[in-house]
Amino acid sequence: MRRNTDYSAEMGRYETALSSDYKKQNGVFYTPVELCRRILREIKVRRGSVLLDPCCGAGSFLFAARAMGFTRLYGADRDEGAVAFCGDRLKTGTVKCLDTLGNDGSSVLAALHLPEKADFVVGNPPYAPMTGNCRIQSGDRAFLQRVRTSGKNLFLAALLRSFELVKDGGTVSYIIPKNFLHVASYGPLRKEILRQKAVVSIVDLGVCFKNVRGEQVVFTVKNRPPSPRHSVLLERDTGTEFEKRARIPQNFYRDEIILFDSREEYRIYRKLCGRHPPLGRAVRSIARGRCAESGAVSGKAIRKFGYRDRKTPENGDRILLQNIYSAESGVIAACGGNLEAGQTVTVLVPRESGRCRYILGLLHSRLVNFYLYKFCYNSSTLTMHTDAGYLGKVPYARGNARQTAAVEELSAGLEHSEYLSEEWLEEMEALNRLVYRIYGMSEEESAYIDRCVRKIQSKRWSNGG
Ligand SMILES: C[S@@+](CC[C@H](N)C(=O)[O-])C[C@H]1O[C@@H](n2cnc3c(N)ncnc32)[C@H](O)[C@@H]1O
Repeated sequence: MRRNTDYSAEMGRYETALSSDYKKQNGVFYTPVELCRRILREIKVRRGSVLLDPCCGAGSFLFAARAMGFTRLYGADRDEGAVAFCGDRLKTGTVKCLDTLGNDGSSVLAALHLPEKADFVVGNPPYAPMTGNCRIQSGDRAFLQRVRTSGKNLFLAALLRSFELVKDGGTVSYIIPKNFLHVASYGPLRKEILRQKAVVSIVDLGVCFKNVRGEQVVFTVKNRPPSPRHSVLLERDTGTEFEKRARIPQNFYRDEIILFDSREEYRIYRKLCGRHPPLGRAVRSIARGRCAESGAVSGKAIRKFGYRDRKTPENGDRILLQNIYSAESGVIAACGGNLEAGQTVTVLVPRESGRCRYILGLLHSRLVNFYLYKFCYNSSTLTMHTDAGYLGKVPYARGNARQTAAVEELSAGLEHSEYLSEEWLEEMEALNRLVYRIYGMSEEESAYIDRCVRKIQSKRWSNGG
């Protein structure tokens, strides 16, 4: 019997030999056998059950399952070479060359000589936006229309097809892009799944595949409606195991699925959202800058509370933010006055005039950056955009007159103090404390947020760094 490492190495050689265009169009990147093993353990495959990987590639899931002692294994892939690779090494006739996205479930089951649907459908389906040459060949117009309205990506087609292949009450466990959990265009299918299927667990894999953009999750659902008390287990992959983080009632999720790292985070989220309306309601607009002229402010020219290359305007009712957000740097914004903004800048215009320095202070606080990173960007370590869809969701605490004046004073101080000097860092710390109070955070909650943000943000933004 081959070892996991041998199989992974052979698979790697096969994958490398495929042309990069082919891989892009067909979403080809194989899953390490070790990760497949962790997933199969997670979903508790029972002896004697039928396990199917409908886009099996070189067969890493099937190989892992075989090594764990499972025998009723089926696979399919449209790549003839990959199917031959599996057949040779797994010595099985149950892997076939098939288009499992274009053909419906019953034809795929028939071609595989499976008299009934599978107990477990597993795998890492292809991800590729359906544009240009990347299409699904199918005469099934209704299915194609569903894929189109779900977000036009091959992994959505695979997810929809998986429910045609699995038994009622059976399990689907797929590695899918993490942004399925929160991107608006995937909302209709996400909401449908939340209503109709019991989501068993979601494992955050982070950036898992070297040549694939974005982050991934293992998304496991039972093909049956959730009971009213059903809860979703949220986990994180440590590289050797799936670590349990929190259990969240499924009926809490209506649309976006936030990956809470602990029960404490879930409580903080509910408290913040329950007490404060979203910032989107307190602004007239949040939009990208449009000025293409050379004098326009670029994202790079902005620093926290000021600019690298010009004086900060004293008056005006706009805030300019770097459009690129990284967890390490957090929000980088300054009062914008009447400055023209280029396309790498987000322009935020508060609804009420005179609120600029108050909102600017909130935006730079640890609390708001914690919220953005955790709950708007779903703990993504990749760079994101400070677009309206994200920024507008941040809870907005209006603050009383005294609090507002204190934040404005600190913001003005941060504009004038030497950037990143001891004094500047102390003012920043005072701002953080004040914002916690304005949002009604307890000592424990503030300490939790402090710990988390200190872990993700560069040390240069806090004293002691
Ligand atoms: C991300 S790879 C994963 C392969 C394998 N499940 C694994 O985890 O290593 C996706 C696979 O889907 C296959 N694929 C793409 N479109 C397909 C289709 N229409 N029908 C069947 N397989 C397809 C590709 O050939 C590729 O092998």
